[in-house]
Amino acid sequence: MADRVVITGAAGDIGRALTELFLARGQSVIGWDFDARRLADNDARFAERYRSIPVDVTDPASVDRAFAQTMAGGESVQVLINCVGAVTQPRLAETREVDWGRDIEVNLSGAFRCLQAVRPAMIAAGGGTVINITSVNGVAMYGYPGYSAAKAGLIQLTKFAATELGPFGIRVNAIMPGTVRTKAWDERLAADPAILDNVKKYYSLRDVCAPADIAELAWFLACGPSRMINGAIIPIDGGLTAGIGLVAGEFCGVEF
Ligand SMILES: NC(=O)c1ccc[n+]([C@@H]2O[C@H](COP(=O)([O-])OP(=O)(O)OC[C@H]3O[C@@H](n4cnc5c(N)ncnc54)[C@H](O)[C@@H]3O)[C@@H](O)[C@H]2O)c1
Repeated sequence: MADRVVITGAAGDIGRALTELFLARGQSVIGWDFDARRLADNDARFAERYRSIPVDVTDPASVDRAFAQTMAGGESVQVLINCVGAVTQPRLAETREVDWGRDIEVNLSGAFRCLQAVRPAMIAAGGGTVINITSVNGVAMYGYPGYSAAKAGLIQLTKFAATELGPFGIRVNAIMPGTVRTKAWDERLAADPAILDNVKKYYSLRDVCAPADIAELAWFLACGPSRMINGAIIPIDGGLTAGIGLVAGEFCGVEF
């Protein structure tokens, strides 16, 4: 029987790539998101073995409702992919209390709520897999203070949950992308159409990720061949967090 996979942020570009890949490989997908228009597009695009459920992950009651709707047929959930994400301000200078709170709610507390919602059902079913989409912003400074703190928190939540839930057969891992070309970049691209080309020089592979790259890694983490991987934070960042040749070159006075 197909696994039932809950993908939060399913109306986003990475969420859609995840949905497409998991459906193509025979799984059932329940897409959670608060963007009603894009969820309707998903419904039109992915009819078979796909269902959208509207949810606002910043609202505990909304997450509880979405989980109840997900379980209404009596079947459990084998995989949860926490992919909701959003940013507010890029610098501390403009970050107000409300921005900070929003970043933490959307990117960290939202993932906590979704994890807590599925956890008892996964324990009752004897196991499951949780994949949290964090970011390179969780391990170094690339702008967006509240978002970065939330993504760092998500890394720690991943390790905590992996350790507590491992004995129940639940694996919890995180994917840590660098730049991925998605609609999350639209506003910055409108201000500077060359922005994505310009950042490529900081990546040793001289390229940025496509949403499908993230989906392939999530597939690996959800499947049998990764059965001994738990609590891992896996970068998929074209080498960004390994080092930046331009910076090393400045330090050493040579070219990398
Ligand atoms: N694009 C990148 O460069 C990049 C880099 C590193 C990590 N990530 C992470 O990947 C994930 C997906 O990002 P993306 O680039 O596809 O962005 P996206 O904007 O295309 O998708 C994010 C989705 O989350 C949904 N969402 C936001 N707030 C919500 C809420 N409160 N309740 C329910 N849904 C909500 C949005 O409607 C959207 O569909 C995020 O967690 C993001 O932080 C992205």
